[in-house]
Amino acid sequence: MQALVEKITQCNTLKDLEAVRIEIFGKKGVLAQEFAKMKSVPNEEKKAFAQELNRQKSQLTSLFDEKLEVLSKEAKEQTMREEAVDVTLYSPLKVSGALHPVNETMNRMIDYFVSMNFTIEDGPFIEDDFHNFEALNLPVYHPARDMQDTFFLNDGHLLRTHTSPVQIRTMLSQKPPIRMIAPGSVFRRDFDLTHTPMFHQIEGLVVEEGDGVSFSHLKFILEDFLRTMFGDVAVRFRPSFFPFTEPSTEVDISCIFCEGTGCRVCSHTGWLEILGAGMVDSNVFKAVGYENVSGYAFGLGIERIAMLLHQIPDLRSMFEGDLRLLEQFR
Ligand code: PHE
Repeated sequence: MQALVEKITQCNTLKDLEAVRIEIFGKKGVLAQEFAKMKSVPNEEKKAFAQELNRQKSQLTSLFDEKLEVLSKEAKEQTMREEAVDVTLYSPLKVSGALHPVNETMNRMIDYFVSMNFTIEDGPFIEDDFHNFEALNLPVYHPARDMQDTFFLNDGHLLRTHTSPVQIRTMLSQKPPIRMIAPGSVFRRDFDLTHTPMFHQIEGLVVEEGDGVSFSHLKFILEDFLRTMFGDVAVRFRPSFFPFTEPSTEVDISCIFCEGTGCRVCSHTGWLEILGAGMVDSNVFKAVGYENVSGYAFGLGIERIAMLLHQIPDLRSMFEGDLRLLEQFR
């Protein structure tokens, strides 16, 4: 008996105690074996034998329970000590996300046009020839249809090469007056310092019944937009050509790096080319069944603006997901 008591009291871990429990209280343990001896005890001694055995059993049981409680408590305290977290410690690893410079720039543009009462329209990335080219007065022989620029799919569809097909979709599904922008991804087969196969554009279209929309409306909105984006810059309209606008213009701002005196970014011209625009060509209105309307349209690349605003030299770096670049925009 004394040996069993010592076995229990000398346990230092829950694991040891569990082993002792099996040894003493288990199915084939010491106590079970003692009780088994009852059979061979003469009848008149059975009662005393059993009483003594039960006394010992309850003594051992309460000793065991006490020990179990002590060791459990110790084990718990040790885990608490080991897993303790000092919530007041300074953590230099606090990381928060940030908008990608393309999204941030796009949001600024959207904010401007929404404040000017433009609606936001959307269209599919996978387009057909009609919406991407035909209805935009891009005849079959136009070089923009060349395999060099367009990703064609096997079934005759293609990845939209600009956001202009959203003009067509919006005019086909709505009636004038229309005052919309369409921001989104576009795709072209091109890859170098200033071109990636996927980039973003924002398209604008304003159409009203009658001949009320004039080039001066276009000029006002673009000048106001560019000064909102770039601050106090000079804005220049150059004659240009797009199949879907007539007359067409390309719009430049005075270089924001050298203020027009000439530097590497503006190729020493003093000007930065920013967007394309013009009065909607009558052939486009014909393609969507509009009569007796007038309107203007414009389109620009978002990455180019983001690169200028954040002085990012290589367009490709925008889409590499390198945290060293992205973390700078937090
Ligand atoms: N879609 C033209 C492009 O991708 C941009 C543009 C849009 C020009 C609308 C004029 C009017 O370059």
